[in-house]
Amino acid sequence: MVKTTISLIKADVGSVAGHSIPHPRMLEACRRILKEGVKNKTIKDFYVTRVGDDMQLIMTHDKGENNKDIHKLAWSAFLKATEFAKKYHLYGAGQDLLSDAFSGNVKGMGPGAAEMEFEERKSEPTVFFMADKTEPSAYSLPLSKIFMDPFTTTGLVIDARMQLGFNFEIQDVISHKGITLSTPEESYEALSLISDTYRYAIKRIWCKDEKIGVAAVVSTDKLNVSAGHYVGKDDPVAIVRAQSGLPAIGEILQPFAFPQLVAGWMRGSHYGAFYPCSVADSSPTYFDGPPRVCAIGFQICDGTIVGLEDPEKGESAIGEHIPLDYFEGSVWDVTRRQSMNISRYMRGHGPFMPGTLASDEMEYTTKPEVLKKLADRMKPLI
Ligand code: F6R
Ligand code: MG
Ligand code: MG
Repeated sequence: MVKTTISLIKADVGSVAGHSIPHPRMLEACRRILKEGVKNKTIKDFYVTRVGDDMQLIMTHDKGENNKDIHKLAWSAFLKATEFAKKYHLYGAGQDLLSDAFSGNVKGMGPGAAEMEFEERKSEPTVFFMADKTEPSAYSLPLSKIFMDPFTTTGLVIDARMQLGFNFEIQDVISHKGITLSTPEESYEALSLISDTYRYAIKRIWCKDEKIGVAAVVSTDKLNVSAGHYVGKDDPVAIVRAQSGLPAIGEILQPFAFPQLVAGWMRGSHYGAFYPCSVADSSPTYFDGPPRVCAIGFQICDGTIVGLEDPEKGESAIGEHIPLDYFEGSVWDVTRRQSMNISRYMRGHGPFMPGTLASDEMEYTTKPEVLKKLADRMKPLI
């Protein structure tokens, strides 16, 4: 049976005005390139969207993960968008394309990628998470609740297919080492690692039923490590498959009702509360944030994407899908209000911790220079 691959590749290659929103012509440039990709059969289908100043390319195909042609296609789309951003001096034009030449895989070159390959079940409801002004480990708390916590996912208790639990692939984002732990037996060991959101992040979650396979994947490409110096936030994405032996859509969304503190807001150096919102509402509007998270839903069908559009519209509509925008509705107002109260409280600390990150985690810091300048005046205390 032919397997389906979903590749969600994202980058920030410039925005209007400041680090806010990619120009519509940049999204259009990506769509044109990906349409070519469908016509020449590199990919089967695609959807282009954005969150804050980041662009996301959702692509479906049958070429597996880390495929050179797929990564090259995404790279070409970002390059085309960068051309426009550079021409009109948009802010941060080309910022996530760390190299001038494509080397076969976008990993380590700036863009972030979450990819999964699986055999399609009878029906494949899929959720795509996209965040701005934060880091990959921001998904660790909600994913732990979804796949490990029976007080969130009642299915872990009352659906026989889920009682076996899940395998968690955990990545040490600094050393680039990884480990797979089996839950529920090793839940405490898993939590002992991933609760350290600076160093560890969930990379993948596997269903123990091999017929189902991969359940979730997160982009864990740390820009600061791959670039050698910090050039922007990761602004991570994640893909989660749902239902029929996996957590239900409702169990997948519920943890986002808790506005957890995440790192990476304003100059990559502050803590703010996760703010679930629609794609349309995802432009940073308060202190370069707050850190936003969006969730959109599609069905995957024979390697193609099905949303609320008319799937029989024909060739002219390739790539034009209408997702379900989960965080759009009024249900999420209460979380948004709570999130803003927390973020405003955190801002009350100004440049003091814990409003800001610890100094060795900050994207911006002048501390080494200040210490150097003051070194002679720093005397032992009597
Ligand atoms: C960028 C971001 C922003 C910037 C800040 C300073 O994605 O989140 O908070 O870090 O606006 O940007 P520069 O140094 O470019 O003026
Ligand atoms: Mg930017
Ligand atoms: Mg961003």
